[in-house]
Amino acid sequence: GRVAVMYGGDSAEREVSLRSGEAVLNALLSAGVDAIGFDPAKEQLTELINKKVDRVLIMLHGRGGEDGAMQGALQLLRIPYTGSGVLGSALAMDKIHSKQIWQCLQLPTAKYEIAVKSRFEAGSCGAIMDKLGGKVMVKPAREGSSIGMAKVTSAKQLATAIQDAFNYDNQVLLEQYIEGPEFTVAVVQGKALPSIRMSTPHIFYDYSAKYQDDTTEYYCPSGLSDKDEQRLALLCTKAFDALSASGWGRVDVMQDKLTGEFFLLEANTVPGMTEKSLVPKAAAAANVSFSQLVLAILATSME
Ligand code: DAL
Ligand code: MG
Repeated sequence: GRVAVMYGGDSAEREVSLRSGEAVLNALLSAGVDAIGFDPAKEQLTELINKKVDRVLIMLHGRGGEDGAMQGALQLLRIPYTGSGVLGSALAMDKIHSKQIWQCLQLPTAKYEIAVKSRFEAGSCGAIMDKLGGKVMVKPAREGSSIGMAKVTSAKQLATAIQDAFNYDNQVLLEQYIEGPEFTVAVVQGKALPSIRMSTPHIFYDYSAKYQDDTTEYYCPSGLSDKDEQRLALLCTKAFDALSASGWGRVDVMQDKLTGEFFLLEANTVPGMTEKSLVPKAAAAANVSFSQLVLAILATSME
């Protein structure tokens, strides 16, 4: 049957999604799959029926594509799709709810506070800085690719960063900064791929470190001992399952550089598949080619 690779869309991560989608579409076409590209920002969803699409490979990042909305729409159209369902997508998109679930299950995640737009008071920033140890990551609850994020070290910076993050979401996560290294673990069809360690000269692993400049260093194998690699893989698959995420995805983690302890940051149910992205790097380390990876992702639509 025919596969539509959904990409683009109208989230803040549109440009990343176009790059991911193009790479995935090319891989499918090279593998002889009857595949078309489909940009929900440009076409009506019902066109999928006119175009006789049998399955959708979702390569949309961010809200509207990765948060359960598209998953629900496709379900109503009775078109199978890749990756997580409605619940898993919605929970993983939301960094606050993800952390709350992990906390309930005693999975390790850094301390946090929440800022809500309708009742935020800048006067509370001093107390929040004290509670969270003086270094804080500010994150819109439902964004990706580090969009709207900032690292702050004073109450004044915190207030400004929260106001900025409110441009992206009405709820903002304020998270204790863990002095890294940062790791990521791809999960494909229930199994963890080798972890990757990222090292960036930027203040944190931000949008430009992810996609624009070539200063980020990636280590895969990541340099963890076998025991820690297994511990991390188990933590990440548990974290993924806890959110009802399924099919494929990626879990991001900080390792406290002093204690070696891991702290869950977030899960991504449609992680990037650009030439700079992490899941293809992890797959390559496991001797899985980009095209084999794409076919494995496509197969998750049949689960
Ligand atoms: N949100 C981006 C696409 C990622 O997680 O890779
Ligand atoms: Mg994300």
